Amino acid sequence: MAGPTRDHSAGGQPDLPRHTRTNLLRFITCGSVDDGKSTLIGRLLYDCKLLFEDQLASLETDSRRFGTTGAGQLDLALLVDGLAAEREQGITIDVAYRFFATGRRRFIVADTPGHEQYTRNMVTGASTAQAAVLLVDARKGLLTQTRRHSHIVSLLGVRHVVLAVNKMDAIGWDRAVFERITAAYRAFARELGLEHVTCIPLSALTGDNVTSASPAMAWYDGPSLLQYLETVEIAFPARSSAFRMPVQWVNRPHQDFRGFAGTVASGCVQVGDPVAVLPGGRTTRIEQIVTMDGVLEVANAGDAVTLVLSDDLDVSRGDVIASADDRPEVCDQFLAHVVWMGEQPLLPGRPYLLRLGTASVGAQVTELKYAVNVSTQERVAAKCLARNEVGVCNLATDQPIALEPYRTNQAMGSFILIDRMSNATVGCGMIEFALRRASNVHRQKMTVNKAARAAASGQKPCVLWFTGLSGAGKSTIADLVEQELHRRGCRTMSLDGDNVRNGLNKDLGFTDVDRVENVRRVAEVARLMVEAGLIVLVSLISPFRSERLMARSLVEEDEFLEIFVDAPLAICEARDPKGLYRKTRAGLIPNFTGIGSPYEPPEHPDLVLASGTEEPERLTSHVIQALASRGIIP
Ligand code: ADX
Repeated sequence: MAGPTRDHSAGGQPDLPRHTRTNLLRFITCGSVDDGKSTLIGRLLYDCKLLFEDQLASLETDSRRFGTTGAGQLDLALLVDGLAAEREQGITIDVAYRFFATGRRRFIVADTPGHEQYTRNMVTGASTAQAAVLLVDARKGLLTQTRRHSHIVSLLGVRHVVLAVNKMDAIGWDRAVFERITAAYRAFARELGLEHVTCIPLSALTGDNVTSASPAMAWYDGPSLLQYLETVEIAFPARSSAFRMPVQWVNRPHQDFRGFAGTVASGCVQVGDPVAVLPGGRTTRIEQIVTMDGVLEVANAGDAVTLVLSDDLDVSRGDVIASADDRPEVCDQFLAHVVWMGEQPLLPGRPYLLRLGTASVGAQVTELKYAVNVSTQERVAAKCLARNEVGVCNLATDQPIALEPYRTNQAMGSFILIDRMSNATVGCGMIEFALRRASNVHRQKMTVNKAARAAASGQKPCVLWFTGLSGAGKSTIADLVEQELHRRGCRTMSLDGDNVRNGLNKDLGFTDVDRVENVRRVAEVARLMVEAGLIVLVSLISPFRSERLMARSLVEEDEFLEIFVDAPLAICEARDPKGLYRKTRAGLIPNFTGIGSPYEPPEHPDLVLASGTEEPERLTSHVIQALASRGIIP
């Protein structure tokens, strides 16, 4: 057995040197809280004699202080639950990667937390795993969490699954219970399409069937967990081995050298190979492959390299250098499985940031086709996805990117979604296939363009976006502003929430999903009207920052003014022009903005109108002044 190593790490994904990649098994452990994952990993390390003297000593001290296993006993979970915070809370809170080895194989285990809200860590851990150890408590059997984890494991293409039925000691090593659980699991796994399932009865606490066969369970003739991990076949499934390298950065130390740095995501590349740079599609050849340790003739998946190309092409971060005769697709719409992890639900139409490889682009879910019930595999109709839910949806990116189905290329087929406001990772996705529709629709070039139309009307087109609570005075002020602009001979158009909801947006209500769509459509119409050369006055509550940001992004930076019509809720409620606050307080409108539904005030509005205290006429002149100072009107 190889000696212990301190080469373990908590947090970031370990990147191994090349020689250790062979005969290395990456696996994850997952289960619900208290299923005993940490104890199991601790047991593996302890029984394999993979611990240092000082680790053992501190384990003894810690067991006395924090242990839950009783006087004089080692609490092996404490070995693994290395973080002080989690010890004190008694839960595991992050993905911890540990590296260990036996005489037969090296292992990286990602210990992923069992709490519902940590699905995200589980996905992170599973995305690079070749095998998954799913723990269940023999006393409890299969839980929704077990099914959810199995589902994610299957989506991520983890091929080997071990159902570790733990705490067999607590049920008197009862074979019948084990068989009941495994029969149920096998039926479930079959439906999911998990190919290789092994079920092992064990006890992390006593060590039975963890590293060696259990005398207490003579009825079981399969492998112990360690035997299984040491022998499971780890050949990768036949996936595309076509060469792909997402460009991380342009390496240009001086005028005479220009290379493109990144990590080879799949396949291999050789000096002289023809390559294409995507999404653009220009082709060239590999001139040179440079690394920290000198030049290479060939680079393989996992190698960090700088590629020098034969032609001087325009390549930037986010582009993909790929084999010229076997390219990924380039598109801006695709179908994907999404696992949602955001605190706020996934809202179709909301602008997120999508990261795939090194590319980062704006993206929206254009259609949520269905959510998946992880326990039954049933498709359920859904308008949004809550945290931990899995769904299938169409996504559209703001610009074309290079991608592939996840099953042919994991690196080019998986992405994450980031909330634009909080910068948090809120979802991850696996691409099923590209939708060709988008590439069949081409933008028609128009001879008479925005500039020509603007010139004809002698004004600078723009959007005046009035946002604020219902009753704050948005429509009143917008109307006064429009009258004044009209008097000055400007060409204007007004898009008012209540009015648009009587026509174009008749089908929308006031759920978050519908409000997102309401704002999206109005923003698109406003964009068209700016193209028509108009000054557009939009009055919408538009309660969410994300969508207001999206509305801004549809036009040029100097064509958008976010005007916060800022009146305190109490004043709006006292005014109650349409009697809606009264109805709300009477319980008749459940999701009224400011009461049952949130309003996110602008963080950096272009203009704030204190409509609670100042008269509309005065506020109107503030707007007119702002337009004049920006050169929008003379
Ligand atoms: S938004 O939230 O989607 O931007 P929008 O500005 O179009 O809302 O419509 C708001 C108007 O709809 C309000 O001025 C009010 O007259 C009416 N309304 C009806 N129900 C609601 C509700 N639940 N929340 C807010 N406004 C509502």
